[in-house]
Amino acid sequence: MSTRHFLTLLDMTPAELQGIIERAVELKRMRNEGEIYEPLKNRVMAMIFEKASTRTRVSFETGMAQFGGHAMFLSPRDTQLGRGEPIEDSARVISSMVDVVMIRTFSHALVETFAAHSRVPVINALTDDYHPCQLLADMQTYFELRGSIKGKTVAWVGDGNNMCNSYINAAVQFDFNLNIACPEDFAPNAELVLKNADRVRVFNSPEEAVAGADLVCTDVWASMGQEDEQRQRVREFRGYQVSPALMDQAAEDALFMHCLPAHRGEEISEDMMDDPRCVAFQQAENRLHAQKALLEFLLVTSK
Ligand code: CP
Ligand code: NVA
Repeated sequence: MSTRHFLTLLDMTPAELQGIIERAVELKRMRNEGEIYEPLKNRVMAMIFEKASTRTRVSFETGMAQFGGHAMFLSPRDTQLGRGEPIEDSARVISSMVDVVMIRTFSHALVETFAAHSRVPVINALTDDYHPCQLLADMQTYFELRGSIKGKTVAWVGDGNNMCNSYINAAVQFDFNLNIACPEDFAPNAELVLKNADRVRVFNSPEEAVAGADLVCTDVWASMGQEDEQRQRVREFRGYQVSPALMDQAAEDALFMHCLPAHRGEEISEDMMDDPRCVAFQQAENRLHAQKALLEFLLVTSK
């Protein structure tokens, strides 16, 4: 079988994704009960980070350790990647020694090129275009708290960024409707929206997008790499803040998610994280469990 990669949610079938979510719930239970399970003994993961991270690094590194394996942090500052060694050569070399590679970088094309030259599975741990690992955790969290998301309505409020694009893919793979509210100049990938027009609708008003939604999500207004635009974006996104009052317009049992880090007073009101509908910290913890399930799938189950 050819090497499986996880660059976007579309690299898995809906059944495989559902399997990973259910396995994540099981792995969480096992960890909480202190059960030792080490399917990746002696296996090594290379973690290439060209952007900052708290959750992604801690969850992958911890997951590999709990599975009996090892994770190696590689920063371009300290490797030849940062000195212009071709990505193709780096992929051939690194993948000849390790068992799986995780990459967080700017260009999605870079991750695709790396994967094309890698002998081992490559995981996209965030690019400018997609953040599929976060969606595994988000879908696990919804599943734990509310059951199947099939047929439900999710509202995305704010920037049409990497997270928003991944929510469009999730709408397809997990079979839900997605309402996106964003300022006109900050819409998600137009091709993706058009291709999925049967389930994805774009609004200019958060109130319209959120009306009756079962899940409301947002993210920072300026993503990593957009620091120079921060001030301008704060102006452009005024009116797109998620607050308990906005949540009141969603369904009665609606949940609120944020991939974190959060900027209180910008994309969320000061009190949103303390609202009982906010499940952002469960969502953050689930990065660990969902990615362990992903690693097990790529390195054990699908082999
Ligand atoms: N949500 C997320 O990916 O967090 P980090 O940037 O801290 O990894
Ligand atoms: N959209 C954000 C997500 C951070 C996890 C960014 O790319 O910085």
